[in-house]
Amino acid sequence: MDIEIITFDIIDSTNIEALKMAKAGSAEGTAILAREQTAGRGRFGRSFASPKDGGVYFSIILRPRLTLDKLPLITLMAGVAVHDALQEIGMNPDIKWVNDVYVNDKKICGILCENTATDQGNAVVVGIGINLLSTNFPPEIADTATSVQNETGNVMTGKELVEILVKYLQFFYGELNEPSNGKSIIDEWKKRSSYYSGKNVKVTTDGETLFGITDGLEPNGALRVRSSDGNISIIQAGDVEQLRST
Ligand code: BTN
Repeated sequence: MDIEIITFDIIDSTNIEALKMAKAGSAEGTAILAREQTAGRGRFGRSFASPKDGGVYFSIILRPRLTLDKLPLITLMAGVAVHDALQEIGMNPDIKWVNDVYVNDKKICGILCENTATDQGNAVVVGIGINLLSTNFPPEIADTATSVQNETGNVMTGKELVEILVKYLQFFYGELNEPSNGKSIIDEWKKRSSYYSGKNVKVTTDGETLFGITDGLEPNGALRVRSSDGNISIIQAGDVEQLRST
């Protein structure tokens, strides 16, 4: 996949722009990078704080050749790519199912994948937000978020970090399109996430709460959680929180 990055100083949301461009027929690999977003969005309709130069605000259009049931693996693939980009600049990240990357138990990156039907077939926009600076965090995330500056002591620009990130996105997206149809991405994810198995978690899905221990992933990337009675729940979407033993 060739990647062409279009940059903006300010935009509503790089995901919104990329979805529009995908609809209009833009090629796979077309990407948007902004210095600031006025309507950055996260999962479940939440907003994503996007102050000027405070983070990487990046979205890329993919036109995956995966069977529909395997589309959730794209989020895992993006997490693996972000993980390795952050590792390359000196961090020791952990991927929290399904779309967050943590460093030292604080969130540094969120990923939002959105599908859209286009004349050229289904397209997926992968939106990646990575905190570069900690100075402008809104109060509600100040205690639970971290940044590249915090963790490495270095101030990087979005462009610098994206140059590293796209290298890994190209590589792991290539793996995802291979005949294993996702198995290799699950293996890559497993190596990089402490959430893969044996983690005590609380899961919130559609207003329901479940407690249990993680027990691997399904072939489509869904999380398996074993409760104390031995039942396995398959989580396709939801918020997962680590429970600490007291
Ligand atoms: C989350 O943590 O819930 C996901 C956050 C995703 C944020 C990124 S920033 C770039 C792209 N544009 C958006 O509006 N959202 C994603």
